[in-house]
Amino acid sequence: MNDLAAYFAVQKSTPGTSETSEVGHKIYFGGDVNKGIPACVACHGVNGKGMAQVGFPAIAGQNADYLKKQITTFRDGSRANDNNNMMRNIAIKLSDSDIESVVKYMSSLK
Ligand code: HEC
Repeated sequence: MNDLAAYFAVQKSTPGTSETSEVGHKIYFGGDVNKGIPACVACHGVNGKGMAQVGFPAIAGQNADYLKKQITTFRDGSRANDNNNMMRNIAIKLSDSDIESVVKYMSSLK
């Protein structure tokens, strides 16, 4: 496992290529006050690079299918490795269309 981690840690991430989404950009930077969705930027960072020291993962450089799967599995609870339900509490408030939009935005990040 240490060898695998060392290998992946030195790989360069590839810039996103998908088209961006204005609605997704709004959710990412501002959340949705009415639905109680916090802004993703608070933890995942302005450029989606996350904050590795405190356990907030990078979401830039990931493909859309992967990102969508992670959010939907947090939402249905089948992914449950997040401390204090941090992501599950957010994902449960996201509609399918919120997810489509925010995933589109995130997978466009360079
Ligand atoms: C309070 C901090 C916080 C906020 C706000 C937050 N996240 Fe997260 N997110 C996390 C943490 C922590 C994890 C990683 C859980 C783990 O695996 O340990 C995570 C994981 C993820 C992952 C999976 C990444 C991977 O590589 O598997 C995605 C996708 C994601 N978040 C999307 C979002 C979106 C979209 C929003 C905004 C709607 C958001 N997050 C808001 C803390 C946050």
